[in-house]
Amino acid sequence: MTNTALITGASSGIGQEFARYHAQQGGDVIIVARRKDALMALKTELETQYGITATVIAQDVGNPKGARALYAAVQKSGIKIDILINNAGFGGHGNFIERTLDDDLAMIDLNVNSLVTLCHLVGNDMVTQGGGKILNVGSTAGMMPGPLQATYFATKAFVASFSQAIDHELRPQGVTCTVLAPGYVETEFAKTADLGGTGLVKQRGKTAAETAKIGYDAMMRGKLHVVNETMLSFVTNWIIPLMPRRMALNIISRMQKKA
Ligand SMILES: NC(=O)c1ccc[n+]([C@@H]2O[C@H](COP(=O)([O-])OP(=O)(O)OC[C@H]3O[C@@H](n4cnc5c(N)ncnc54)[C@H](OP(=O)(O)O)[C@@H]3O)[C@@H](O)[C@H]2O)c1
Repeated sequence: MTNTALITGASSGIGQEFARYHAQQGGDVIIVARRKDALMALKTELETQYGITATVIAQDVGNPKGARALYAAVQKSGIKIDILINNAGFGGHGNFIERTLDDDLAMIDLNVNSLVTLCHLVGNDMVTQGGGKILNVGSTAGMMPGPLQATYFATKAFVASFSQAIDHELRPQGVTCTVLAPGYVETEFAKTADLGGTGLVKQRGKTAAETAKIGYDAMMRGKLHVVNETMLSFVTNWIIPLMPRRMALNIISRMQKKA
């Protein structure tokens, strides 16, 4: 068994760390993103350090067509996928009505539509193979509504709901689906989402490497949903859902205002 993990968004941040951690366990990787140079550098690093095989697929999976093209490329390679990590995603700051509609629709396409496409295509193969593991990267943002990042929070709420439901359906067939819900992690995410100057980026969260390990280990144990920080897990699971809704909206909105 090659124990191959297909990882989207592996050119930086948490995705890169998933690839490192999986390779460290001796597993092969298929690493996917748009920036081929970063993927090639990671391939060299992982193959040299861990003696595994890293396959690079430079593919924009920003819409279901791209996700289908990725799946076709994997099929063509003949490599069997044991683990699917849907990690590629981005956010975007601002009042919904003032943001560019196309940017928000592109966010839904990557964070939701491509993730669903890959879960369906690869999930089917896993069922046929008699097993497999899926890790979908959500966010603590998916556990509450998020003024000033309305669409992003909603995409991650979709990821949480969808992933837990398909886990329930697939588990009897040997396939599990885990959601990793990180709080703030210092990566390229904040710059892409234009979060500079907000309270969010002042938080001292876990590192990308720590976050990837927490998600990966939870996936290996077949857990349904994991938050990457203990206190944040308590607050998002037990405090925010019980707060008056308007109070929660005010607090979240304040955290996302720029200084
Ligand atoms: N950082 C945080 O605070 C945080 C918190 C909660 C959840 N998350 C989630 O964690 C995941 C990883 O984010 P990160 O923090 O590691 O951010 P990041 O450093 O910006 O990494 C995002 C990755 O996604 C890839 N990507 C973006 N658009 C793509 C596209 N159209 N096609 C293929 N790949 C694409 C990027 O590569 P290319 O640009 O090379 O394509 C990059 O490798 C995301 O789903 C994010 O929503 C992050």
